[in-house]
Amino acid sequence: MTHRIFLIGFMGSGKTTHGKQLARKLGYSFVDMDQYIEGKTGKSIPQIFKENGEAFFRRKETQAIKELKGDKNLVIATGGGAPCFGDNMDLLKAAGLTVYLHLSPGALLNRLKNSKNERPLMEGKTEQEMLDTITAMLAEREPFYNRADLIVDGMDNIDERLYNSVVQKLK
Ligand code: S3P
Repeated sequence: MTHRIFLIGFMGSGKTTHGKQLARKLGYSFVDMDQYIEGKTGKSIPQIFKENGEAFFRRKETQAIKELKGDKNLVIATGGGAPCFGDNMDLLKAAGLTVYLHLSPGALLNRLKNSKNERPLMEGKTEQEMLDTITAMLAEREPFYNRADLIVDGMDNIDERLYNSVVQKLK
């Protein structure tokens, strides 16, 4: 019996928005891992990157995965980098069902340039620089994301498709 569903994928792929909908439909609770880390440290993500550095943040992500695997009936939206450091992808797969929300670099750029969330890894970049960064980072990260138990296209009608594929997989 799977008690936890981890949504993984690049920044701006809609893990939080669609994770909330999925949790509601399944009757599960929802946890956003970035917010969980902000709560534990008492700092915002940009503040953590600035004051403690990225390596510290990555350690907090591993710690969060280990802590959350004790809780039941959860949909968890992970940060975009979480599955791609250390043995986090193995930890995630052992802790629950992993679902990759897949979007093209162009679609991610459209969402990220309109997003109000502060993302230290995109800060101060022009649109072209953002697209180059997304393309390069996605190439590095997809080998991790592609290990997910389920890969769901993140474009149209995502909520319904996501729910149906998860329910099918949980049977
Ligand atoms: C990051 C993604 C962010 C957040 C941090 C680093 C990344 O989460 O964890 O800014 O390395 O891709 P979202 O994917 O929710 O934007």
